[in-house]
Amino acid sequence: MNYSRIIGTGSCLPEKIVTNHDLEKIMDTTDQWIRERTGIRERRITEDDETTGMLAEKACRRALEAADVDPAEIDLFVMGTTTPDLVFPSTACLIQKKLGLPDCGAMDVNAACSGFMYALSVADKFVRTGDAQKVLVCGAETLSKITNWEKRDTAVLFADGAGAVVLEASEEPGVLSTHIHANGDYADLLTSNAGVSRGWEAAKENGGRPEVEMRGNEVFKVAVRTLGRIVEETLGANDLRKSDLDWLIPHQANLRIITAMARKLEMDMDNVVVTVDRHGNTSAASVPLALDEAVRDGRIKQGDLLLLEAFGGGFTWGSALIRY
Ligand code: UT7
Repeated sequence: MNYSRIIGTGSCLPEKIVTNHDLEKIMDTTDQWIRERTGIRERRITEDDETTGMLAEKACRRALEAADVDPAEIDLFVMGTTTPDLVFPSTACLIQKKLGLPDCGAMDVNAACSGFMYALSVADKFVRTGDAQKVLVCGAETLSKITNWEKRDTAVLFADGAGAVVLEASEEPGVLSTHIHANGDYADLLTSNAGVSRGWEAAKENGGRPEVEMRGNEVFKVAVRTLGRIVEETLGANDLRKSDLDWLIPHQANLRIITAMARKLEMDMDNVVVTVDRHGNTSAASVPLALDEAVRDGRIKQGDLLLLEAFGGGFTWGSALIRY
């Protein structure tokens, strides 16, 4: 049996830090409200000329370096993003040659905040079937570009960043299972108001760019319920118990959602990787950013059992159980 194993992680955050106090100066909000309702203290925001692809390229380089893998050995590149540099070529194609990858398959997967879970799932399947030996997987976003900075309900939440992993085929697990789902009935609760074939008029209001619209409170309730179900599904599929888990690496949308998940899993918050306080919600980048941070600071050790999960626009949701 082929498994895929993570053999290297990397990440990249923009330099510019925007604190809650900075936001207090430009909109009707307070540091206290943002901290109490979301857990966010500050976030990283790209400059105007900094793109998703630029962040992704750096995160991928760091993951390849950590894995000690020559880019020429990569035989598939999958990128989760909902804020690509261009409509096409895909961001994966735009940075493929800069990274020194060969003419391997390269694609973007759009599953909003679940983008990395979807990308990891696709990559894992290619390895399991024997079609790929080494796969580069990235989650990268510049949500700040589709945020309306005059709207406090979304502007305080979203931010920019990128995270990546290198997967390698192995006889030992590895990625034990991945699970992905979607339900388009909820499309209107979390959406961008413009795209390519519709929304031109709406985009004019945000300088020609789409903007994120969210009915936060309703999203919150479905997110907690749905993530609760997927962690049960993931553990059940592997015949494992909550107590077997060493680490929860959740999507970083809201500290209250993260603590609700920890409670459901009966996990101590010391075993939950939290970055939302410093990163905000970086959508598809949030899980690989958190993973990289905890790998590099030595919290996650070889052999640890990790549960990764995410929930986002679509709705989409996904998880992975990984023996690191
Ligand atoms: O990553 C994809 C998935 N996304 C999520 O999972 C996000 C899920 N949702 C959430 O995290 C939370 O719903 C939010 C953080 C977005 C909002 O928190 P909430 O506790 O659900 O607040 P709310 O939307 O019910 O708003 C409560 C009050 C409202 O005022 P009134 O009507 O009670 O007077 C809002 O107008 O808070 C007000 N409010 C703000 N006040 C200060 C909304 N945004 C702000 C703000 N600063 N930035």
